[in-house]
Amino acid sequence: MRRLIFENCHILEQPVVGDDRGKLVAVEGQRSVPFDIARVYYIFGTEPGAERGVHAHRDLHQWATCVSGSCVLTVDNGRERHEVTLDSPEKGLHIRPMIWRKMRNFSEGAVLLVLASAAYDQADYIRNYGTFLSLTGGGAAK
Ligand code: TYD
Repeated sequence: MRRLIFENCHILEQPVVGDDRGKLVAVEGQRSVPFDIARVYYIFGTEPGAERGVHAHRDLHQWATCVSGSCVLTVDNGRERHEVTLDSPEKGLHIRPMIWRKMRNFSEGAVLLVLASAAYDQADYIRNYGTFLSLTGGGAAK
């Protein structure tokens, strides 16, 4: 199931394969997520009160899901800002390029899994919110 947050940002729910042994979710590039998966990373051991992300990407697509625990992701396209709670391994967020994101409120033991469309590249990052707004042509998000 695909649910629009706003243009460039969708919740993608992945089908769960379950039987009497437990559950499994498989995520395939170009099938369950609309990009080739070039990189996988996961964030864990997050300190209470910590904020992560706080940047946008020029070209990178990402899909993020909390495989354990929960966290809150704020996504901002330069005009609108939304909060998405990732609290189920069945629910992932597809973040297209040019979305400012921040992750916070990590529960104890939370593991945030991120699938990315390209290798790590510092040059793809936009870390200054003013620069992001000038590139998106937006005013500050409400
Ligand atoms: P950082 O960009 O601060 O993570 P986040 O935006 O998720 O809070 O990255 C933390 C460190 O990890 C930084 O030294 C860069 C490194 N890193 C990699 O080496 N590869 C990666 O794929 C990522 C996402 C980060």
